[in-house]
Amino acid sequence: MKRYMKYIKPYRAAFILAPLCMLTEVFGEIMLPKLMSMIINNGVPQRNMSYILGIGTVMVVMAVFMALGGIGGAYFSSKASICFTSDLRQELFDKVQDFSFKNIDQFSTGSLVTRLTNDIQQVQQVTMMGLRMMFRAPGMLIGALIMAFMMNGRLAAVILVVIPFLTAAIALILKTAFPRFTVMQKKLDRLNSGIQESLTNVRVVKSFVREDFEADKFRDMNRDLKENSLRAMNIVIMTMPVMMLAMNVTTLAVVWYGGNMIIAGQMLVGDLTAFTTYIVQILMSLMMLSMVLLQSSRAMASIKRINEVMDTAIDLSDKDASRKDLLVKEGKVEFRNVAFSYHEEAGEKVLAGISFTAMPGQTVGIIGATGSGKTTLVQLIPRLYDVSSGCVLVDGVDVRQYSLKNLREGVGMVLQKNVLFSGTIEENLRWGDEYASEAEIREAAECAQANGFITSFTDGYQMDLGQGGVNVSGGQKQRLCIARALLKKPKILILDDSTSAVDTATEAKIRHCFATDLKDTTKIIIAQRIGSVEEADLIIVLDDGMIIGMGSHRDLMENCQAYQEIYYSQRDREKEAGA
Ligand SMILES: Nc1ncnc2c1ncn2[C@@H]1O[C@H](COP(=O)(O)OP(=O)(O)O)[C@@H](O)[C@H]1O
Ligand SMILES: [Mg+2]
Repeated sequence: MKRYMKYIKPYRAAFILAPLCMLTEVFGEIMLPKLMSMIINNGVPQRNMSYILGIGTVMVVMAVFMALGGIGGAYFSSKASICFTSDLRQELFDKVQDFSFKNIDQFSTGSLVTRLTNDIQQVQQVTMMGLRMMFRAPGMLIGALIMAFMMNGRLAAVILVVIPFLTAAIALILKTAFPRFTVMQKKLDRLNSGIQESLTNVRVVKSFVREDFEADKFRDMNRDLKENSLRAMNIVIMTMPVMMLAMNVTTLAVVWYGGNMIIAGQMLVGDLTAFTTYIVQILMSLMMLSMVLLQSSRAMASIKRINEVMDTAIDLSDKDASRKDLLVKEGKVEFRNVAFSYHEEAGEKVLAGISFTAMPGQTVGIIGATGSGKTTLVQLIPRLYDVSSGCVLVDGVDVRQYSLKNLREGVGMVLQKNVLFSGTIEENLRWGDEYASEAEIREAAECAQANGFITSFTDGYQMDLGQGGVNVSGGQKQRLCIARALLKKPKILILDDSTSAVDTATEAKIRHCFATDLKDTTKIIIAQRIGSVEEADLIIVLDDGMIIGMGSHRDLMENCQAYQEIYYSQRDREKEAGA
């Protein structure tokens, strides 16, 4: 709760005013029946019109104040809850932005989306309701109890019989509701994750004609959510009738018992009318309280989920970095006996005993079967993940000693699963450098062999890319991603299988450009084709997380059997394709 004070503070005026406004309503609700009974007891039998008008005027004025208080309460509670949760949502989003890759692996994207939207919404609703009911429900309960006992103590005792029963019923309902709401939110998570995965990959789904399968999967998840929501809602539904029943039975008991008292001359008619109103108010306020508690139990499930995100320790930060002002200047990359695993507890190593050095300006090629750990290896350089043991040095300094900003500023990386964003081509390229001149943008695009196809579009650099870059081909997308990375003018450039969809002739041009224009940049290139890395200064052959060969193309052709095998099999395949 403490952490939420920070978000409440800026809006504390609204947080205080909302329940205070509601107090006028409480006061009115308590007083109106009393005034009414005065009219019935004194005004009507004596036909005293001025008395009736006098009290009536007081009642009207009071009703106006109640209306104003009600409006104020609604206004301030809306304001308080909406503003406070908006800040909370922002903070949550910022926190997720700080997540390391490892942190992101822990939550599914769908689950994060649910937490940011639906869970926050729950908190907002309960805040709004809570602020309005905070004083109102207990105020009405206590006020009505006092009035009832003052009017007729013996009759009021009836209520004391009902309250324990009701309290027990409410407690039971709440106890059952909480776990069901937790399950319901989890199912919603699963549904959102499913929707997200299926929609972002809708093209793959269609090309594999898996629509039916996806629809079935969704139907299952949807049914699951429906059933669990119903289970939770059944409890909520139960509350109302239980309360109404209690209310009606009590009212009947009061009327019967009170009627006898009137006949016996121990009670006035006006008092009985007021009394029944108080009884209804007492039970109503209990009902409101139980509703608030029920909503709270639902919101508690959401708050727990929000806290999970808030409490996630960012496992990768530069808090303790000792060389925060250091920039990447040379671009020398060195791995010293590096080992890495994604799940340290499980202990299965994805990389082990990795040592090599890339001198500034050199080109290093990495070759290896899928799953051999190539992507994992290069992700350690800009610290997308941290090594498990050993160290990665850039310019002779451990990457963990740089500020993340400076380190990543110095490293340009084209991810294997690269993405473009909606917006124009130029806007996308500017991710590399916001302030790049048009000439610079063009130069980068030329180097990545992208200028040609960009200028062939009618809108050229202003062409709007659909979401995720849907309206360019795979190879074009890869070249745009390379251009984007080049604009950063990084000291270290990493291409993770980034020319797989580009034809060999174009790829050769890109390579040529790298060799001439990016002389001082250290280039680390992961490739499937040996041809892509043949001219590299150093080629690393990776197998199952270990280096099984390292050297120039010529060295490897002499010493590394695995390399030779890859080379010959690729050459044969090319021949076949050519023939
Ligand atoms: N985010 C991740 N969480 C857990 N395991 C992963 C993750 N990414 C990759 N792996 C595993 O690490 C191994 C190496 O993967 P990767 O580096 O992507 O290989 P490559 O790029 O050579 O195809 C694989 O066994 C893969 O399943
Ligand atoms: Mg890979």
